[in-house]
Amino acid sequence: MTGKQRFQVAGGARLQGSVRVSGAKNSVLKLMAAALLAEGRTVLTNCPEILDVPLMAEVLRGLGAEVAIDGTTVTIDVPAALEYRADFDAVRQFRASVCVLGPLTARCGQAVVALPGGDAIGSRPLDMHQSGLEKLGATTRIEHGCVVAHAPALTGGRIDLDFPSVGATENILTAAVLADGVTILDNAAREPEIVDLCQLLTAMGAKITGAGSNTITIEGVDSLHPTTHAVIGDRIVAGTWAYAAAITQGDVTVGGISPKHLHLPLEKLKLAGASVETYEQGFRVVMNGRPQAVDYQTLPFPGFPTDLQPMAIGLAAVSDGLSMITENVFESRFRFVDEMQRLGADASVDGHHVAIRGTTELSSTSVWSSDIRAGAGLVLAALAADGVTEVHDVFHIDRGYPHFVKQLVSLGADVKRVGDGAA
Ligand code: UD1
Repeated sequence: MTGKQRFQVAGGARLQGSVRVSGAKNSVLKLMAAALLAEGRTVLTNCPEILDVPLMAEVLRGLGAEVAIDGTTVTIDVPAALEYRADFDAVRQFRASVCVLGPLTARCGQAVVALPGGDAIGSRPLDMHQSGLEKLGATTRIEHGCVVAHAPALTGGRIDLDFPSVGATENILTAAVLADGVTILDNAAREPEIVDLCQLLTAMGAKITGAGSNTITIEGVDSLHPTTHAVIGDRIVAGTWAYAAAITQGDVTVGGISPKHLHLPLEKLKLAGASVETYEQGFRVVMNGRPQAVDYQTLPFPGFPTDLQPMAIGLAAVSDGLSMITENVFESRFRFVDEMQRLGADASVDGHHVAIRGTTELSSTSVWSSDIRAGAGLVLAALAADGVTEVHDVFHIDRGYPHFVKQLVSLGADVKRVGDGAA
């Protein structure tokens, strides 16, 4: 049981050294689901060793696939006929499982996918997923806690998203690749994980242009074939290390990631006073002296990622001056600021803005993680606090950060995992 585990984080160490990030959580789960589109064996390498990967494997097994996980390699054997109902427990356990909706609708002509319960970062409706599939000829409805789609035949169409939703873009892509005719998806999400998905789909035989731009064009094909694909590096984990370096006035080199995927977060660190060197597959952040306050606004890629907003708040909490942080993607993502305040952060929330005046006197206490990124942000703030902070409910952090404690320790932090079953 990891539910009762917590981290004891002693503040004060300057992080120094190198870490390497593994594959992106927000990519691997979608790639695993996309494997359902082709009969046969798809192999994914550079997968992160996080709980969501075996959970997604359970989801795929429930649909009839065989899945083997060997370290960072996931092998998925997909049968000719799939089960279209994904309304079992594994599906309800994590929100990302909704990404099987597109592949199942395309392969089976119908899908029933259970919806998870409440979310700590705000409501997460599926209206754009549904209206996108409807533009391709499906009928959809929410029934008995599931999203239900019917599409005896999918036909290409024109779809204009109201907002560049990552999940909706993914479900539309994975349905349109097997539709009859051409789909033009406008106001599509541009995240690197979308580009990664399009690269996998293209290697499977899909015809896609415009990935990474606002407009993606998909020419449907009759069938796809399996392939082997390496998952892109996790830009959010890499960004977390970058902000950890700045918060602790450290010197950290991060490998396994294209710095282009973190352009704005690294620019913000330069404004805060860090020196940043970039390489083809990595970067180095050095912060000498106290960081300066910087303002942030979260936006879809290439804007500042909402998933790094808690790390930006952690940095603002110790910076010199006043930072204004605006959250534009998820409505309730400031709930964890209460926990930052318990560490001594001088923060006030007003709607989707938070104003933070940095202090040099964060002080240790017990804090609770409410989601993956909030938990990581709290650990970062604790690294700069006086004394030993206990960060509870670390099962959230474990869902996104493989080997987090080990890597923190390798950089010189004094962090321990304690509680039931801790090694
Ligand atoms: C994905 C990421 C998440 C990241 C987010 C934004 C995964 C598993 N999760 O989540 O870590 O923070 O992108 O970069 O990849 N919305 C609607 N209707 C819809 C769909 C979305 O109103 O049909 C709203 C959401 O409530 C939210 C916003 O659009 O306010 C962005 O959501 P979206 O981009 O879809 O995020 P996810 O795919 O859920």
